[in-house]
Amino acid sequence: MNIIHFSAECYPVAKVGGLADVVGALPKYQNNSDTTSQVIMPFYDIKFTKENTFETVYTSEITLGNSTHTFSILKLKDAVLDFDVFFIDVPELVFKDYVYSFDDTDRFLAFQVAALDWMLTWETYPDIIHCHDHHMGLIPFMLQESFKYEVFRKIPNILTIHNAQYQGWFSHDKVNLIPAFNLDNIGLLDWDGTINPLAAAIKCAWRVTTVSPSYMEELKTSANGLESLLSDESAKCVGILNGIDSSVWNPETDNYLIKNFSNKNLTSGRKANKKYLCDTFNLDFNKPLFAFIGRLVGEKGSDLFPETFKNALDNQNLSILLLGSGNDAVEEQLEALKKDYEGTYNAYIGYDERLSHIIYAGADFLLMPSRVEPCGLNQMYALRYGTIPIVRSIGGLKDTVIDVSEENGFGICHDNVEVSEITTAIHRGIELYTNQPKYKKLSKQIMSIDNSWDASAKQYINLYKSIN
Ligand code: ADP
Ligand code: GLC
Repeated sequence: MNIIHFSAECYPVAKVGGLADVVGALPKYQNNSDTTSQVIMPFYDIKFTKENTFETVYTSEITLGNSTHTFSILKLKDAVLDFDVFFIDVPELVFKDYVYSFDDTDRFLAFQVAALDWMLTWETYPDIIHCHDHHMGLIPFMLQESFKYEVFRKIPNILTIHNAQYQGWFSHDKVNLIPAFNLDNIGLLDWDGTINPLAAAIKCAWRVTTVSPSYMEELKTSANGLESLLSDESAKCVGILNGIDSSVWNPETDNYLIKNFSNKNLTSGRKANKKYLCDTFNLDFNKPLFAFIGRLVGEKGSDLFPETFKNALDNQNLSILLLGSGNDAVEEQLEALKKDYEGTYNAYIGYDERLSHIIYAGADFLLMPSRVEPCGLNQMYALRYGTIPIVRSIGGLKDTVIDVSEENGFGICHDNVEVSEITTAIHRGIELYTNQPKYKKLSKQIMSIDNSWDASAKQYINLYKSIN
C-alpha cells in the first residue's frame, strides 16, 4: 500500500507544533514490507532548507485564476530523513521564511494545486491520500470535484483534524483560484457563507480522524462552528490517539539532554538535567520545579498564567519555568514577572527545541491547563522522561493521564481552566513532591508507559484498508 501524507509541517524539516511531530513520526511507523509512506510538503525558506541540498525532480507551472506561477518538486540529495519527503517549491508564493502567516490562503492553495498537478504526471497513483488539517483541506474537495483531477476520483482519502479551531476560512471572491468544478456543488466548499477548507474536507474526505477519541466526542458540541457538520458526518469519523516517536523521545539516547538516563538511573539523570535548568535560569534546585512548554494562546490557558503564577509563587514553595511564545500581551506579562520573582520564576520567550527536551527531563511537573487539547504530545513526552503531568482533563489529556487518586493513576488532573483549580492542582503537586518515595515511584512508573506510535499506526493502516 502506498500512502501519501500531505502536510504543512513535518519534523525535523518545519515545526510549529505537534502537527510536525506527528507527520515526522507516523510515516516511520507505517513504512514496512507491505506499506510505503511518504510526505509531500511545502518548501519554505527556513533553517532546514538552508542547511540541506536538494535536487529538482520535476518543474512545471500552475494556474491560479488568471495568474501562472512556476513550481518545482524537490527531493533531498542525502538520506537525512527516515522516509521520503517531496518538497513543492513555488518560489513566488510558498518559499517564505515562515510556515504560517497572513498569506496562508494563497500559499497553501498554490501548494495543493501544484501537488495534484504533479500527481497527474505519475505512472501509478497512491492507494491512500492522507491530508492533515485545513491547510490541506481543499485536496479532498478537488479530488472529488475539479474536472482536471477526474482521474483521482477513486483514490481513497482521509482528513486528520489536529485542531478544529483553525479552519482556513477565505472569501468567495477567491473561488476562481480553485481549479474549475461544477458550480452547482459550490456548497461543498461553503460553511456559513464563507469558503471553509476544513469543512470542505470534512464533507468530501472518505474518512475523518481526530487525534484522540475524546476530542472526537467533544467536537460534536464544541468545534468552532462545525459542531452540526461533525455530528452529521459522525459515521465516517473516528478518533485515533497520537503516539510519540520513541526513537526521538528517548531519555537514554536523546542528544539534547545534559545527562541521559533510563529508569535504572533516573534519579541521577533527572537531577543533572534539573541542575542545568536551575543554574541556567537562577532557580533553587531544592524546590519542586513546575514547567510549561508551548504556544501562548487561549487554547493552552496561557492568559491565566500571570495571575496563577503570582498566586502560586506568593503562597507556595516552588519554582516555575516557562518556555513558549505567542500572544504579545501574555508574553509581556510573563517577561515582567521575572523581576518580581527573581530566583523562583523564569521564562524563555521563544522557541528552543533543545531546551524543551531538557525541561521534559529536568522539571518535576509539567503544567497543561488547556482549554482545548485535541491530543497534546507534551504530556506524553513528560511521561517518557519521568516528569509528572498536571493536566486539565480534556481531549487527548483525558485519554492519556489518570489522576494519581485513581487506580493505577500517575498524574494530577483538574476539571476546569480557572486560576483556583490550577493553583489547587499545583498544591497537590507540591504535596506529592514532599513525599519523595512516592514521587520517585511514580516517576519510574510513568517512564515505562508505552505511548509510542506502534498501536495507533496500526489503527490508521486498518482504517486505510477499510476504504481501499
Ligand atoms: P500544539 O501542537 O497544540 O502546539 P502539542 O502538545 O501537540 O501542542 O505539541 C507541541 C510540540 O511543540 C511539542 O513537541 C513541544 O515540545 C513543542 N513546542 C511548543 N512550544 C515550544 C517552544 N517554545 N520551544 C520548543 N518546543 C516547543
Ligand atoms: C494540534 C493540537 C495538539 C495535537 C497536535 C498533533 O496542534 O493542538 O493537541 O497534539 O495537533 O496532533
